[in-house]
Amino acid sequence: MKIGVPKEIKNFESRVGITPAGVFELVNCGHQVFVQEGAGEGSGFSDDDYRDTGAFLLATIEVVYAMADMIVKVKEPVDYEYSLVKKNQVVFTYFHFASSRELTEAMIESKAVCIAYETVRDEDGLLPLLTPMSEVAGRMAIQQGAKYLEKPIKGRGVLLGGVPGVPPGKVLVLGAGVVGVQAAKMAAGLGAHVTILDINMKRLRYVNDIMPNHVVTEFSSVYNIKRHIKNHDLIIGAVLIPGAKAPNLITRDMLKEMRPGTVMVDVAVDQGGCFETTIPTTHDDPTYVVDDIVHYCVTNMPGAVPYTSTLALTNVTLPYVLKLANLGWEKACELNPDLAAGRSIVKGQVVAKELLEVFELPFI
Ligand SMILES: NC(=O)c1ccc[n+]([C@@H]2O[C@H](COP(=O)([O-])OP(=O)(O)OC[C@H]3O[C@@H](n4cnc5c(N)ncnc54)[C@H](O)[C@@H]3O)[C@@H](O)[C@H]2O)c1
Repeated sequence: MKIGVPKEIKNFESRVGITPAGVFELVNCGHQVFVQEGAGEGSGFSDDDYRDTGAFLLATIEVVYAMADMIVKVKEPVDYEYSLVKKNQVVFTYFHFASSRELTEAMIESKAVCIAYETVRDEDGLLPLLTPMSEVAGRMAIQQGAKYLEKPIKGRGVLLGGVPGVPPGKVLVLGAGVVGVQAAKMAAGLGAHVTILDINMKRLRYVNDIMPNHVVTEFSSVYNIKRHIKNHDLIIGAVLIPGAKAPNLITRDMLKEMRPGTVMVDVAVDQGGCFETTIPTTHDDPTYVVDDIVHYCVTNMPGAVPYTSTLALTNVTLPYVLKLANLGWEKACELNPDLAAGRSIVKGQVVAKELLEVFELPFI
């Protein structure tokens, strides 16, 4: 199979879909890999690293799309790429369709086979291709939140860890999944007081077992959220309903209840966000202020730490890339229900049920 690896063109996105190690594996299986020049630079891989493992380097993104039977990348195609995606081409990447009707319609029109990393689901119901990026984003959420709590960048002016004689800051985490647990762990490590909410009691029991005593678990309800937002300094949105738009857990009128300078980091922004006032932002202008509340809503947080993120991502995607390349997408999905769960739009038809519901699309 001919596999294409374009350079990511989303703002400040420096990850790459396949590393030289992945090229080596694919070439060993008899495949051809076409990598756009400079695609790996941001993650520390030179064109020569790719050449040395058997890749063909191509000068432009147009040629990469034109040559490939399967495109392997990181983020969803941006509008410039919509017309480059070909009929019957397999596109294996994060799509997060639920947050963009425009992307959904463009991929329906392309008649490509869109397999979304974020909905590949293993036999335990876990999302193995979302996990490593959620781990990165969860940890980063605290790093970023701590920074934006500083007064010169409109935060409350609170040091999360406190100092001797001064109490630590308070962090509220909505969702005790992968992002939430990693965020809670980082915040606890800094010495902050952490409250973590979820509707899944199994997750709350797990968090309660593994976290230190200054991480408190509570059931997620409107009442509890309203109560906590009044006195927490940093709020992390980390909820997920797989394939669907995130629920709005903090509405605009609730911002008035919060103290000026409170920072809200909506990690769930890629699924539409869990705050009503969430607007997607980018790494070059990551925050904005609504009613004195600082919002950080970057859709590709791990893109800022590509050296770590590319390795974490490709460790888990490569086995699936090999299956798709070796067996073809139809056979690979037939034999691997986990991969089949990633099929979102196939040759012009939306096959992900949640997506049909989000956009009220007709069943085809
Ligand atoms: N912005 C970024 O760069 C970035 C990076 C990685 C992940 N994400 C996103 O972060 C979000 C969370 O990902 P994850 O891997 O932690 O998912 P996850 O499935 O591991 O966890 C989500 C948790 O949310 C909980 N939940 C659902 N409804 C809730 C509610 N009403 N109140 C409280 N909790 C609720 C679920 O029970 C679950 O435990 C996803 O939208 C994911 O796409 C964003």
